[in-house]
Amino acid sequence: MRVLFLFATIFVAAVLAVGQETHPSMQGMQSLSISYETPEQLSLLKNYVDVPGFDFVKSTNDLVDVLVTADKIEEFKQLLEEHRMNYTVMIENVQQLVTEQYIEQEVERRLQVATQDYASGRLSFTYYPNYKEVNEYLTYLTQTYKNIASLITIGNSYEGRSMKVLKLSTGGGNKPAIFIDAGIHAREWIAPAAALYMVDLMLQSHRDLLTKVDWYVLPVLNPDGYEYTHSSSANRLWRKTRSNTGSNCRGVDGNRNYDMGWMVAGASNNPCSDTYAGPKAFSEVENQHMRDFILARKGQIKAYLTFHSYGQYILYPWGWTNKVPDNEPELRNLASQCAQAIARSRRTQYTYGTSANALYLAAGGSDDWALGKADIKLSFTYELPGGRSGFLLPASEIKPVGTETFEALKVTHQYVTSKYASH
Ligand code: ARG
Ligand code: ZN
Repeated sequence: MRVLFLFATIFVAAVLAVGQETHPSMQGMQSLSISYETPEQLSLLKNYVDVPGFDFVKSTNDLVDVLVTADKIEEFKQLLEEHRMNYTVMIENVQQLVTEQYIEQEVERRLQVATQDYASGRLSFTYYPNYKEVNEYLTYLTQTYKNIASLITIGNSYEGRSMKVLKLSTGGGNKPAIFIDAGIHAREWIAPAAALYMVDLMLQSHRDLLTKVDWYVLPVLNPDGYEYTHSSSANRLWRKTRSNTGSNCRGVDGNRNYDMGWMVAGASNNPCSDTYAGPKAFSEVENQHMRDFILARKGQIKAYLTFHSYGQYILYPWGWTNKVPDNEPELRNLASQCAQAIARSRRTQYTYGTSANALYLAAGGSDDWALGKADIKLSFTYELPGGRSGFLLPASEIKPVGTETFEALKVTHQYVTSKYASH
């Protein structure tokens, strides 16, 4: 009888395992930063894109960052050495760092809630808030700044989480607006945190940014993915949405799903790829809600800013083609001023340019859609810093990153005000 029970248990477990998607194990996974010089070296690296066990998380003209699973790492390092390519191990064991950070986070969270008046929903910005904590913070803001802050629910995510846009307005009609979103990519935790910290700065000490401009902030554009990365350390590196598109692999890359050059370059039609563009443009309900919200305010919204990590880039359209938009000089100018403002703050160096030329071709991005379809002339993607650990940037960086990025926000606000506000 016992034996039978045991077999039955194993059988059920095996059946469950088949139905479940398997994430690459982070145990022994390493993060390598590899420099390359020759076209041959680059094409050698390109052979590994979309190969199971390899996740190319960042690439520049002379460097790539790649996460490699334990079973592939030794062979891969040997290959790099044979081809005389220099690399640095940025993270020795991804799982270990993720686990450490989970524990740290939890300790910090409990400490804050216990010792201060954060019970009201206020955030300390000393740990990364989960989806629920983000919402509690938004509610806290509306209660604390009744005349300025309000919430607009724009719909539900695929798994039914409500998506809330925070509106900051001191009233009066016909003001230009700036729209900000973050968290379209689940694992890029610094993006929602820094966006909210900047909101905090505006409300606490920079009310002047609210007099001539209305702000819309969607701090978590991909709540299902975001919550997934918070739910268990095993899912910390999830990027996409959580929709089921009928394959064994879940999720769509939200930033390949917009209807602007959809699927023409730098996107995948493979549901298991991290850059899967979806079965069609705007297949993702989260993107649909965001689209509808923005289109309903077409004309009012003058600047679109979307926060990602990591890489220290200020990118503007186009990402779907190497061509540049008509107002490229304007975009370049503003990006340059923002980069300088950030550099003055903490000497953090940003690179700027069109997505396709400064980074890589990738179609279906929200920034391209904002300019191309919503006609928002000032459209930017910020790749926030990753420090030494990329997506696993320590929570102690939330305030410093938020503070320096706020300088770029001020510059953008100033530009929008002088160009669009009535004086
Ligand atoms: N790292 C971002 C991504 O890969 C950059 C997006 C830039 N914008 C674009 N339209 N390609 O999604
Ligand atoms: Zn991203």
